[in-house]
Amino acid sequence: MARQRGHEVDVLCAADNPGGSALTASRLSNIAVVIDFTTPDAVLENIEGCARAGKNMVVGTTGWYREIPRVRKLVHDAGIGLLYAANFSVGVNLFFEIAKTAAAALRHEYSGQIFERHHIHKKDAPSGTAVALQRIVQDASGKELEITSFREGDVVGLHELVFDSPVDRIYLCHDAKSRRGFAEGAVRAAEWLAERRGFFDFKDVWREL
Ligand SMILES: NC(=O)c1ccc[n+]([C@@H]2O[C@H](COP(=O)([O-])OP(=O)(O)OC[C@H]3O[C@@H](n4cnc5c(N)ncnc54)[C@H](OP(=O)(O)O)[C@@H]3O)[C@@H](O)[C@H]2O)c1
Repeated sequence: MARQRGHEVDVLCAADNPGGSALTASRLSNIAVVIDFTTPDAVLENIEGCARAGKNMVVGTTGWYREIPRVRKLVHDAGIGLLYAANFSVGVNLFFEIAKTAAAALRHEYSGQIFERHHIHKKDAPSGTAVALQRIVQDASGKELEITSFREGDVVGLHELVFDSPVDRIYLCHDAKSRRGFAEGAVRAAEWLAERRGFFDFKDVWREL
């Protein structure tokens, strides 16, 4: 996707970059933005490497959000830009807004639940997207919904928000057909971030891309 949008790309695999060791100022001298879709174990060392190297970073990896306060400070102290998202697809970010409105159901006779399904190789559960959805509903309603995770086959990513009352049910569902939407969102986020400094959440800026 980055090449399709006219960018040059340098790829680092796990073996090239133990502990974030390849993310040095000299190695990154011709790089505008680092994009990280790795693992919850690797991502923090990669963020620390980019902060040391003074390089802006887009983070798609999930499973590290407890560290957000520390990372936010690291980003501000290093004077870099970091933009993260549990989900870089525009469709999911629209879904987040629908969920925020739909959370009003919890003030009536409805109870709510979140279900998420992903391929069997996914390392973290619940998904970062499900956690983001839970937080959005909680901020809007004061209620924390239970998340149920399923790992099966090659499901790209399916999230359901279900509200249940004694008389009916409301189903809201986002079903990713491929990873293309995530990739395009991440590359457009990198273009947006290239000249900026600060700590950003994609859900607050995707409309500007
Ligand atoms: N925000 C979003 O829109 C979005 C969308 C999809 C996935 N995700 C998240 O992105 C992450 C990756 O997901 P995935 O399904 O692509 O996982 P994956 O298939 O397991 O890929 C992880 C990749 O990370 C690489 N890696 C691990 N440690 C590394 C390091 N220290 N330096 C450089 N590369 C390293 C691995 O390289 P090797 O191949 O060399 O082992 C592997 O290619 C997960 O946290 C997932 O939840 C987010």
